[in-house]
Amino acid sequence: MTIDKNFIDKFVNITSKAALASSYLIGKKDKIAADKAAVDSMRSELNNLEMKGHIVIGEGELDEAPMLYIGEKLGTNNGPEFDIAVDPLEGTNFAANNLPGALSVIAVAEKNSLFNAPETYMEKISTKITEKNVIDLDYTVKQNISNLSDYLNKKPEELTACILDRPRHKEIIEELKKLKVNLKLITDGDVSGALLVTDEKYNVDIFLGIGGGPEGVLAAAALDTFNCNFQGRFLFKTEKDKSRAKKMGINNLRKKYELNEIVTGDSIFCATGITSGDLVKGIEIQGNDFVSETLVTHKSSCLKKVIKLKQNL
Ligand code: FBP
Repeated sequence: MTIDKNFIDKFVNITSKAALASSYLIGKKDKIAADKAAVDSMRSELNNLEMKGHIVIGEGELDEAPMLYIGEKLGTNNGPEFDIAVDPLEGTNFAANNLPGALSVIAVAEKNSLFNAPETYMEKISTKITEKNVIDLDYTVKQNISNLSDYLNKKPEELTACILDRPRHKEIIEELKKLKVNLKLITDGDVSGALLVTDEKYNVDIFLGIGGGPEGVLAAAALDTFNCNFQGRFLFKTEKDKSRAKKMGINNLRKKYELNEIVTGDSIFCATGITSGDLVKGIEIQGNDFVSETLVTHKSSCLKKVIKLKQNL
């Protein structure tokens, strides 16, 4: 079973509208309002789709989020069954402060084929190298860089690593600097960060570090179609996190997940720009129209492209 191609435009439309809704709040210093606008739009548009949708990654659990909560059923309850992961506003700081890189993101997969990720941090690594035992979450930074350098036939000083600029990454960043690897430090937005390995034009050879688990699953859906590699390991700190994970069926809390364990079937991924960033341009209002740019992937048709849409406001 694959996801019908006709759904591609429908999901592009959904992230485009959510991006538009959030774009009215760009630079208003209100992360919550910018997020809510995207969430409200995405939820009502998803409910119009002929599908039986099931949120596996959303705004939290029912007691934390009235909308797009994990387990929520969406759509007309007719048509194909989908697992849906949403991040209606990825990069709330970017939108609130009018900085580059805010996105509206969705990943849709066939029923039971998208990992049900808990809301915890995840150690992640992505590269375009799919061969086994070259780049691995279990290797040291030094080992990974040495392998990457050999594999790509580039000196470490010709490599670029993308990582969230966080105190928790101090050691990794120091090690990368010692190895003379160029850094692309991002202040937020690691869905986009993980996807920078997909094309040479971004000049990023490896993405690594700790970020949100849900963002890891979303990025994995796109990386799958780009034929890139991704590994992730959830980090459960509190007892609450651990017991929630157990309830979700995660027994080995230190398990390293390979991409093909995170996304196991056909998928569609859409990321529309709210503010312009590395992957796509932000929403532009032109008279009575708005223009959106969406990075779209569809695994079974090998589609991976940026779709530019002009629609009536
Ligand atoms: P929000 O859009 O929810 O603010 O998330 C932005 C983000 O940068 C994610 O891309 C990333 O996975 C996560 O936050 C990192 O979390 P933290 O800011 O706690 O390091």
